[in-house]
Amino acid sequence: MADTSRVLKAVVPAAGLGTRFLPATKATPKEMLPVVDKPAIQYVVEEAVDAGLSDVLMITGRSKRSIEDHFDRAYELEEALRAKGDDERLNAVHESSDLAVMHYVRQGEPRGLGHAVHCARQHVGNEPFAVLLGDDMIDARDKLLHRMIEVRDRHGGSVIALMEVEPDQVSSYGCAAIEATDEDDVVRVSDLVEKPSAEEAPSNWIIIGRYICDPAVFDVLEKTPPGRGGEIQLTDALRTLADTPAGQGGGVYGVKFRGRRYDTGNKLEYLRTVVQFASERPDLAPEFMPWLRQFVREHDASNGVGGPGQP
Ligand code: G1P
Repeated sequence: MADTSRVLKAVVPAAGLGTRFLPATKATPKEMLPVVDKPAIQYVVEEAVDAGLSDVLMITGRSKRSIEDHFDRAYELEEALRAKGDDERLNAVHESSDLAVMHYVRQGEPRGLGHAVHCARQHVGNEPFAVLLGDDMIDARDKLLHRMIEVRDRHGGSVIALMEVEPDQVSSYGCAAIEATDEDDVVRVSDLVEKPSAEEAPSNWIIIGRYICDPAVFDVLEKTPPGRGGEIQLTDALRTLADTPAGQGGGVYGVKFRGRRYDTGNKLEYLRTVVQFASERPDLAPEFMPWLRQFVREHDASNGVGGPGQP
């Protein structure tokens, strides 16, 4: 019998060092880097809230205080905006503090994603919960988390989000061995490998940063030894759960995601994300897009791209 407790809480690991964005992330958490004018982490919290999860636990670490400040009230700033009668900006400031019920716990030592998730145990208790990784942003129009919660409600166990990639990209992700079910976008996960080599990879379906975990994951994480990179891996704990009977909180399903995902964890993808988001903003796009077109044209012309015989 599937455990029918509802998913109500979201866990957002945000304790990473963000070394890929140094020096920007020396004193600023990578989660606070803006995508246009909102920090990346706010989009992630908005996604959780949109899926009905307004209780959000963030796993933070040293130098992450500004994340807490961002989701808190900012009285001095609010007063200054109020005095100026700037309601639009005042609303923007309120948006993040009114969004969700935020909780924080620190991951004392950087021992991996699995360890970070285990830090949520006391807050989450014996309920299924969602995990949202900040580096992956899912387009607000693509209701991935809703779908994952629906699958968990029906099947119990844990649910991961999967995306198909070129085989040469598999080694950067967790990768799943999958079996079809009678639903086109739902698979059974029979095995998982964290960052496999191309030869080890059981498929080219990778885990993107959205999970619904059965609370049984906590006991498993406690016994999971350090894996890839010497860190305690959530993927390894889910691998154990894939092999555990449903009556003991086991069973792992995958939802195949074919929508829009933005990977803000590396510089190139981050830049693409900012440009894409700006191109859809009614307040920016009318000026930004003509500028972008002209910029590319002039850039290409001065670099000899696009001339006769050129691509
Ligand atoms: C983590 C997970 C990995 C997953 C990835 C998604 O890796 O360990 O299984 O595929 O997130 O972004 P990280 O990117 O933290 O190394």
